[in-house]
Amino acid sequence: MCGIVGYIGHRSANEVLISGLRKLEYRGYDSAGVATIPDIDGSDRSLHRVRAKGKLSQLEEKLKADTAPTAPIGIGHTRWATHGKPEEHNAHPHTNTTGNLAVVQNGIVENYHLLRIELKEQGHIFVSETDTEVIPHMIAEYLTQLAHLGNVIPERSPSVLFEAVRLTVEKLQGAYAIAVIHADYPDELIVVRQQAPLVIGIGKDENFCASDTPALVAYTRTVIPLENGEIARITKDAVQVFNAKGDRLRRAPQTLNWNPTMVEKQGFKHYMLKEIYEQPGVFRAGLARYISEANHVQLGLPAGFIDSIERVEILACGTSWHASLIGKYLLEQVAGIPTTVQYASEYRYSPPPSLNNTLVIGVTQSGETADTLAALELAKSRGDRCLGITNRTESSIARVADAIIDTQAGIEIGVAATKTFIAQLLIFYLLALDFAARGKLTEVQIQEFIEGLRQLPAYMERILEGQERYIEDLSRLFTHTKDFIFLGRGINFPIALEGALKLKEISYIHAEGYPAGEMKHGPIALLDEDVPVVAIATPGAVYEKVLSNSQEAKARDAKLIGVAPIDDLAAHEVFDHILPIPIVDEIFSPVLTVIPLQLLSYHVAAHRGLDVDQPRNLAKSVTVE
Ligand code: F6R
Repeated sequence: MCGIVGYIGHRSANEVLISGLRKLEYRGYDSAGVATIPDIDGSDRSLHRVRAKGKLSQLEEKLKADTAPTAPIGIGHTRWATHGKPEEHNAHPHTNTTGNLAVVQNGIVENYHLLRIELKEQGHIFVSETDTEVIPHMIAEYLTQLAHLGNVIPERSPSVLFEAVRLTVEKLQGAYAIAVIHADYPDELIVVRQQAPLVIGIGKDENFCASDTPALVAYTRTVIPLENGEIARITKDAVQVFNAKGDRLRRAPQTLNWNPTMVEKQGFKHYMLKEIYEQPGVFRAGLARYISEANHVQLGLPAGFIDSIERVEILACGTSWHASLIGKYLLEQVAGIPTTVQYASEYRYSPPPSLNNTLVIGVTQSGETADTLAALELAKSRGDRCLGITNRTESSIARVADAIIDTQAGIEIGVAATKTFIAQLLIFYLLALDFAARGKLTEVQIQEFIEGLRQLPAYMERILEGQERYIEDLSRLFTHTKDFIFLGRGINFPIALEGALKLKEISYIHAEGYPAGEMKHGPIALLDEDVPVVAIATPGAVYEKVLSNSQEAKARDAKLIGVAPIDDLAAHEVFDHILPIPIVDEIFSPVLTVIPLQLLSYHVAAHRGLDVDQPRNLAKSVTVE
């Protein structure tokens, strides 16, 4: 987590840094800071640092009162605290003892404790509780050592500062990305990527770096994503990339295929609401991309990629894990492929025995989740074929997996995943069809299935257009509710989990999702008139079962909300409130049932006056273990 930005060029560094950090706030928002070198030409070689606890707006307020001259070079940071509380003294950038060198870091330096002891013994003074602070002190230490040797550095090394950073990085253990500036070397910015994302943006007479591309697209769409272990020296008119040993690498820039408006709110009050509304379009884009004119699934996987596959193991976290549970249902029920779904964080340390012909799928919207990447790397090292499902094809998962399917969701800014979830579901529908085409379904059945998928975006639009106001009003009833239960069965059980997760993460209301049939085995004890129950009851194999499980809740005085067909009499009898959904084949229902639940959690949180897009303690990319 945390977001870092760096700039060197002809603009005001502070403006670029703040605009970039605003786009990275989803990565952490408990404190922020910038460091700049006001005078690149050498008359004012001092480092200027401003930091603030709290959201970026606090830092902006401080900068308004700041009288330092405009600077052409700087680094900035938005923090999601790992080591040390979110206080100003722990906010980045961190400096060395003399304060002329500044570092921002995203990630964790695992061996910081020992390094800190060593550095303290050498006379370095520490003022924060962070792991990051060892980095500027170590760089300073190496600069002193190099100075004693007359600043003689290897010929291949482009600068003394670069060499000091490279030597420092050799000592650091962990997963991190850093950016470094130094007042005595005011025309260069050194950046490092080690298992945390870092993208360089290339401009004309200016260059940038950031943890993620949204921070860059207002200025450039030409980027070089660094690979693990790479170090780059960025000046205003050049970018040089090196490996950890200091050998120069040739890296061709890529062009991003999206534009700055994709990261704007476009009239919506929150990114989350905008992204909820984008879902029909995302689903259509996925169908257009992966269904050929002849109505065949074409996921663009390498030839023979799934031919010998007998089982699937899916690794994911959070909402992506919920999408994966639906993926399991589809792969097993539609295609007959035995499938397991593992929390990536659990798989890493207790992987199941390896079996031949297993396809391991990592599912992640950010493409950067540390646990998912590590789990997939482990699977790869065990010889499994690895597939990544993500909307961020330029992210780290692309480097780990043997093949990637782009979910077509584009970038998602709201911390609570919505459109990326729907897009992941579509990929699982298509993957299940791809497997089913090996003989489980006939051609006619496949065509019918695809037809079913094609109907869904219009139904999604109908829910959005028809229900948002109603749900907004209904949500007011729950502004002060403390606990919620979500029930679902079969393919909609993961939607119960997802509904509960959405509600708890943005409204801070305690919510649990259960398979409806499990309620009587314990959770029923929680029920009374103050605990509303949301049941997902869609016509199909378990419809009557869910209705009778809901009746059991009603008998305990719970207020019942049903995600159910509008004109079903049985549903009307059971539920106090209905969030109506069009009737579709049960297999497609999750794509629809999740939408009222997203809207419910959005409006409950909005009524509570909470920051929907940046809920407390969360971050969009969880790049730490
Ligand atoms: C919930 C949410 C998180 C993520 C989880 C995994 O709305 O967004 O639970 O789903 O942190 O993230 P990715 O999908 O980026 O691996």
